[in-house]
Amino acid sequence: MATVLVTGGAGYIGSHTCVQLLDAGHEVIVLDNLSNSSEQSLHRVQSLSNKTLTFIRGDIRDAATLDQLFAKYNIDAVIHFAGLKAVGESQQIPLTYFEHNIAGSIALFNAMQRAQVFKLVFSSSATVYDESNISPLNEDMPTGMPSNNYGYTKLIIEQLLEKLAIAEPKWSIALLRYFNPVGAHKSGCMGEDPQGTPNNLMPYVTQVAVGRREQLSIYGNDYDTVDGTGVRDYIHVVDLASAHLCALKNRLLSTGCRAWNIGTGTGSSVLQVVQAFEKVNGINIPYQFVPRREGDVATSFSDNRRAITELGWKPQYTLEDMLLDSWNWQKTNPKGYR
Ligand code: NAD
Ligand code: UD1
Repeated sequence: MATVLVTGGAGYIGSHTCVQLLDAGHEVIVLDNLSNSSEQSLHRVQSLSNKTLTFIRGDIRDAATLDQLFAKYNIDAVIHFAGLKAVGESQQIPLTYFEHNIAGSIALFNAMQRAQVFKLVFSSSATVYDESNISPLNEDMPTGMPSNNYGYTKLIIEQLLEKLAIAEPKWSIALLRYFNPVGAHKSGCMGEDPQGTPNNLMPYVTQVAVGRREQLSIYGNDYDTVDGTGVRDYIHVVDLASAHLCALKNRLLSTGCRAWNIGTGTGSSVLQVVQAFEKVNGINIPYQFVPRREGDVATSFSDNRRAITELGWKPQYTLEDMLLDSWNWQKTNPKGYR
């Protein structure tokens, strides 16, 4: 069993991963500045797993906090979720995104190096793939220039980690390229809690369902897809969390830097998602078609075979599970953790 530092562990994906780490018997230290989360999520993690974790409220950009933390706890590996993720905001305040995501990550990697901790699992994104690639996207396909500053920070961090692992062979790094995380813990106690107007499809749909928003705007119905709406690879957050445990296990036993897609390998259109949500949950979702959103591609879904064969990971949940669990979380917690 390992002692794992989880940066951003109070957030959506981090909290689901902490439950599984504790369930598997790992010791968990969370570092989070709570800029986009609530400590409440960590209380729920602990009550679900019936185990305790250590929470440090602090910032990954703060070298002193990091050094103290590495000195105090005998950390074996780091799962690095902390960062800012609002695509629209990243266009308005790019420097803030560069500061938290890029400078913050470098501060973390420096502290790891000082503490001689070289095992890392990093939250990357399918947004790093070049838009000209045709889905299913596999890890050997070229990366490109993401359409927004948020995506650009992911690409930069991937590239610097690749160079770091070449220069210093002690490093062992997993780049997990998430497709579209949705869903929530089965209990309904934990889920996604976006601040302000959601950028992503699923929280928007559940907020319409709960009456917080009037209707969904579907960005474009003239794409070259099954019904004209955008196609994405939605992955249950619990499956995504389990990929981190598989990657951690893999990295504890090897070195180098390697990317893995974390998706189901299947695409669903916006209309298919909306219709399936209505069917499984018995709720009508009013929607209107509006023009395409800038930066969107028609279709993006994964080839997930590398993660299945190399990490021994396999997604378990269907789209219906994702939609049931997203709604279960939203209706039980209409205001999220607040
Ligand atoms: P989230 O916002 O729920 O979690 C991120 C956490 O990091 C939050 O708890 C926030 O308070 C914390 N944080 C932010 N800046 C920090 C800093 N400087 N120091 C310490 N803590 C800080 O987001 P999430 O959806 O759980 O995403 C986790 C990671 O996965 C992020 O790096 C995100 O970019 C990446 N990712 C997310 C998605 C997605 O659709 N959710 C897709 C691809 C990649
Ligand atoms: C978006 C980001 C991507 C980021 C990812 C995870 C853009 C251009 N891309 O990806 O950089 O890594 O989120 O945070 O912002 N949709 C609607 N109406 C809505 C919301 C979404 O029709 O209100 C559609 C989109 O056009 C898309 C699909 O739903 O076809 C999924 O959208 P979203 O959840 O935002 O994810 P991505 O666009 O894949």
